Amino acid sequence: MHVLVTGGAGYIGSHTVRELIKAGHRVVILDNLSRGHREAVAVLQKTTPAGTLDFVPGDTGDHALVSGLLQERGIEAVLHFAAHSQVGESVERPELYYRNNVVHGLSLLDTVREGGVKYFIFSSTAAVYGEPVEVPVSEEHPVVPANPYGATKLAFEGALRWYGRAGGPRWMALRYFNAAGADPDGDLGEDHRPETHLIPLVLQAALGLRPAISIFGTDYPTPDGTCIRDYIHVTDLAVAHVLALHALVRGAAPAAYNLGNGSGYSVLEVVRAAEAVTGRSIPVRHTGRRAGDPAVLVAGARQAGQMLGWRPRFADLRTIIDTAWRWHQKHPAGFETV
Ligand code: UFG
Repeated sequence: MHVLVTGGAGYIGSHTVRELIKAGHRVVILDNLSRGHREAVAVLQKTTPAGTLDFVPGDTGDHALVSGLLQERGIEAVLHFAAHSQVGESVERPELYYRNNVVHGLSLLDTVREGGVKYFIFSSTAAVYGEPVEVPVSEEHPVVPANPYGATKLAFEGALRWYGRAGGPRWMALRYFNAAGADPDGDLGEDHRPETHLIPLVLQAALGLRPAISIFGTDYPTPDGTCIRDYIHVTDLAVAHVLALHALVRGAAPAAYNLGNGSGYSVLEVVRAAEAVTGRSIPVRHTGRRAGDPAVLVAGARQAGQMLGWRPRFADLRTIIDTAWRWHQKHPAGFETV
């Protein structure tokens, strides 16, 4: 199948492109490189068979460009990753999130519907649930986003649902918990600017690139007082997208599924696991809570297993950190490291 991947130069998008090509699909990446990396595309082009991958720089909101691509390439499925994804930034600059994640997203969806594309997979987030009222958080949990990032992702899920009933594509939305780790081959990984995510920050501290890691709050109602999250390996997320696409092709009903391991680790447990993996001591500094952090966020992810046949391969926290560590050691300055 010929697949359009928006945001394919980004962290989860690039890993998914690799898994799509491994599964025998041809891919066109559409990415404006505002957050993604040209170097990630170059790595993918170097490591995939000739003729399986093409890169087109541009915006999802560019109707003429996207419409031309859909027709010229005979695109049958769109996997949509292109979005802003920093919770803190979304609170400070909601306009960026509504414009990019909702306005440009809707333009893409209009173009996709006009172009008769059959399948659409959407990169969604656990942030749609907001502060959990029950853990583990299943797909039936109320959706009350606590920030514009989650609100814009939920808005787009709603559009997918209603467009789907009005001649739009058949769709699945995949709600990730905490994406982490790197491709086991070591050539694709996580490179956000600025970096705000715990595991890359911890590994940068292990490399001596940061003096210490700040622990955001030690007075949460958890066993060690720090927040608990469900870390899920990026390659497991990537594989779930391929399975979701194949399920849609087989006739599965449109739905939103959680993607997580179903087990949580505290911030301090992550730091200790990273010390064990790296063999280095990681200095910590206790600071106050970060606004908007729920104490515990763990996925109820049984439905993705049952409906998509998805089984995470890299569920162990140390394995997740080990793959990220290999990437960070080889790429201390991210994709800019030659
Ligand atoms: N943390 C620290 N110090 C840091 C960075 C993070 O203590 O320097 C803590 C956070 O407070 C949180 C945990 O580590 O408790 C994980 O934080 P991340 O920033 O890595 O991830 P979040 O849980 O905030 O959010 C991530 C994604 C969101 C997504 C959410 C869903 O960034 O896009 O997971 O679970 F919505």
